[in-house]
Amino acid sequence: MIMRNRTVRVELGARSYAIIIGEGLTARLAECLPFSLAGRAAFILTDDNAGRYHAQALKEALMSVGAASVETLALPPGEKTKSFPYLEQTLSWLLGHRIDRQSVLFTLGGGVIGDLGGLAAALAMRGIPFVQVPTTLLAQVDSSVGGKTGINTSQGKNLVGAFYQPVAVLCSLDMLKTLPRREILAGYAEVVKYGLLGDLEFFEWLEAKGRDVCALEPESLGHAVETSCRMKADIVARDEREQEVRALLNLGHTFGHALEAAAEFDGRLLHGEAVAIGTALAFRLSVRRGHCPPEVADRVEAHFRAMNLPVDIRDIQPRLTVGADELLALMEHDKKAEQGRLVFILVNGIGQAFVARDVLLEDVRAVLQQSMGMNRK
Ligand code: GLY
Repeated sequence: MIMRNRTVRVELGARSYAIIIGEGLTARLAECLPFSLAGRAAFILTDDNAGRYHAQALKEALMSVGAASVETLALPPGEKTKSFPYLEQTLSWLLGHRIDRQSVLFTLGGGVIGDLGGLAAALAMRGIPFVQVPTTLLAQVDSSVGGKTGINTSQGKNLVGAFYQPVAVLCSLDMLKTLPRREILAGYAEVVKYGLLGDLEFFEWLEAKGRDVCALEPESLGHAVETSCRMKADIVARDEREQEVRALLNLGHTFGHALEAAAEFDGRLLHGEAVAIGTALAFRLSVRRGHCPPEVADRVEAHFRAMNLPVDIRDIQPRLTVGADELLALMEHDKKAEQGRLVFILVNGIGQAFVARDVLLEDVRAVLQQSMGMNRK
C-alpha cells in the first residue's frame, strides 16, 4: 500500500517551502517541486553511502522531468566531510560546470551532505536554489528543515555557515530502509527531543510506539516524522535566525557538541547519540538546579535506554580520554555560548524546555563527572 503524502509548510514569506513526507518521492518528483525543472541544469551532491542506493534513481527522475543535464558528485561519508576542503571541492565542481542561477542543487544524504551542500548553494553565484533530499532519519526530522547550513572547523561544529532555506524538502521514507540500525536510532534521539522540549503527549506516544518508529513501520514512522517536522517548521517560522524560541531545538546540544568534539568525529559517537547523552545530561542538570524532580530524568533515561541509545558519557566506547574541564572548555567554544557564558536548554518537566543563561560551572562539572562515572552521588 502506498502511503498518502503528508505535507508540512515552513512559512517564511517569499521563502516559504513545503516538506513533503511520503514514499517513493523521487519517482513523483514533478509533483513535489515548486517549479518546473525543464531546461535547467541539475546537480546531485551525495556521499558514497546514500549515492550508492539512491543517486541513479534521482538522476533518472531528474532527466524524466526534463532537466537539461544532471551531474553527480559523491563525497566520502562522515562528519569530516563537513569541512573547508570539501566545501571548496563542491564549489569548484558547481562552478566548473558553469552553473547559473537557474541551476538547482539536490542534496542527497544525511546532515553532513545537507549542511555542506546548503552552504555551497548559498555561496555559489551568491545563491542558487537547492532541494533537500534527506536519506537519514536525523536529516528528515531535523537538519534538512530550517535552513541552517554550515561546516565544522578546528574550533568546533558549525562555526562557519549561513541561514539559507531550501526550496523544498523531500522526505522519502522508503530511503530509510537502507540505513544501518545505529543510524536510525541516532535519528530517533532527535525525534524524542521534540517531545521532550515541547510536547508531553508526543513523548508519551513515543514511549508506546518508539519501537515501531525504529522498525520503520510506515504509519508510525510517518506520524513521527510529520510531528517532528511540524514542530520544527512552527519554531523556524517564528524565529528563523535563532534569536529566541529556536534555541529550544538545541536541547542536549551544548553537551552533545562538546562530546562530539572530544570524540574527534572519529565515528565512535554519532550526532544523534551525542544528543541522547546531552539530553540526559540536560535533564540531570535541571534536576540538580531544582527545576524538575529526579523521576522525570529517570523516565527520560529509561526511554533512551529502552531504545538502545546511550545516556551516559561512560557509555561511549572506546572511552573518551578527556576530563570534565576539557569538556567545559569545548562548550565555551561552542556558538551556543554568549559573551563567555554557557547557555543551556533546561526543563521544568517533559515538554517544558527553557533557555538558561545563569548556570553555574560547578553544577555542569558535577553533572559531567557523574556521567563519566566519577564522583557518583
Ligand atoms: N538543529 C537545530 C536547528 O535547526 O535550529
